[in-house]
Amino acid sequence: MTPNPIILEIKTLSPDGLGVAQWEGKTVLVRDALAGEQVEAEIIRRRRGQTEAKTLRVIVPAQDRVSPRCAHFGICGGCKLQHLSYDSQVEWKGRWLGNLFRAELPGQIDVPLERVAMEDPWQYRGKMEFSFSPEEGRLGLGLHRSGSFQRVVNLKECPIAPDVVSALLPVIRAAAEASGQPAYDTRRCEGFWRHAVVRVSRSAQTAMVTIVTREGPAEWMEPMVRMIREQVPQVKALFWGISNRISDVAYAEKMTQLFGDDHLEDQIGAVRFHFGPTQFVQPNRLLAEAAYQAIRENCRLTGNETVYDLYCGMGLISLALAPFARAVYGVESESDNVALAEQNAALNGITNASFICGKTEDLLRGGAIFKLGGKPDRIVLDPPRAGLHGDSIAPVLQARAPRIVYLSCNPKTLVNDLKAMLKRDPAYRVERVQWFDFFPHTIHMETLVTLVRR
Ligand SMILES: C[S@@+](CC[C@H](N)C(=O)[O-])C[C@H]1O[C@@H](n2cnc3c(N)ncnc32)[C@H](O)[C@@H]1O
Repeated sequence: MTPNPIILEIKTLSPDGLGVAQWEGKTVLVRDALAGEQVEAEIIRRRRGQTEAKTLRVIVPAQDRVSPRCAHFGICGGCKLQHLSYDSQVEWKGRWLGNLFRAELPGQIDVPLERVAMEDPWQYRGKMEFSFSPEEGRLGLGLHRSGSFQRVVNLKECPIAPDVVSALLPVIRAAAEASGQPAYDTRRCEGFWRHAVVRVSRSAQTAMVTIVTREGPAEWMEPMVRMIREQVPQVKALFWGISNRISDVAYAEKMTQLFGDDHLEDQIGAVRFHFGPTQFVQPNRLLAEAAYQAIRENCRLTGNETVYDLYCGMGLISLALAPFARAVYGVESESDNVALAEQNAALNGITNASFICGKTEDLLRGGAIFKLGGKPDRIVLDPPRAGLHGDSIAPVLQARAPRIVYLSCNPKTLVNDLKAMLKRDPAYRVERVQWFDFFPHTIHMETLVTLVRR
């Protein structure tokens, strides 16, 4: 029998933000525990050789332990680090990233890692994806519980999101309840309400809401339209997405507009832009401004360069660089992003940026894309979490751009790609590594690496 509870000495934090302790010769990962602490804990799971515990009581707290601001901390799977002071979070992430770079790219990083953290690490998220679930006979709306794909925490607040998001949560929940329809149950694959996605314009202080449901009659949406309109005037657009898929992602196969505009306007740095209900926009607008400015600095543009912005989304990096380059070519796989990139270029009066719809790996084959605008002087890469497609690495290197600037939301795929690139073409070296704390209180970050060709 497991002696429960047990006393654990926490040695360090794991890459997932869990306390690491030794117990009966095994490594135990401990929720809500910090390095240097002694805690009373309970084993909650043993799976595939891994033992997980949760803290019941902190006996000796770490000096940098703080009271989490959010009432849902510990249960909600959203923020894992709120019990650690913000300064220590930043220190820890920087140390973790440095160790990763040194371990995976030995001898290749002889520059210090530079960091940009937030002055006020709250209310920073411009997009939140909530899920509905049946919770003890009530309709729950919130983020997934820590360690659960099925159940959500019925959120009252979310301090990492702007106030309008916390104001919307009870209204959306009450409107869904007023419809008389149940939340979608992912185990039984039945029920109506699935997700509520809120996007916020930081500069305009407005919001756009997308409610995702299973197929159903429009009258079930009537209370949602009425109550959001009446009670949260900052919401300028409401969309209804329908998803009959089994998988639990906030993706809609069909989208209808229920009221308002088809886009919101926002601004990052000097770039104004429109975005709709499906576009990717960096969720932390303040630090996106810092990251885009760093990309521009690292590109060292004089006005004569041809720049390729691969994985360009709605073209925001392209538009930030275009005024300082000869020409910019953005490549993006989603056609609605490309259409918005073109609109956004017009909105900013930019005429030297072109956008091409297609997969980067296809358009790079045989260097095809570089025939469009000529040899690249700069290449910007900003792929999704999975990193670069294997087929993209050789053509990017063969183009011999003097500077490659790579922005990544996943340090692990970033170092794998860098390893492959530096091995294949030793003429490149790492000039600068910067990281941006886009996601305070979570383990995530954005990293920017600048490669130069000797
Ligand atoms: C991390 S986002 C970058 C967006 C943009 N650079 C920005 O800062 O707003 C990655 C983008 O790559 C696009 N994408 C994903 N796979 C792609 C592929 N194989 N080829 C081209 N674009 C792709 C996604 O649609 C998404 O817009």
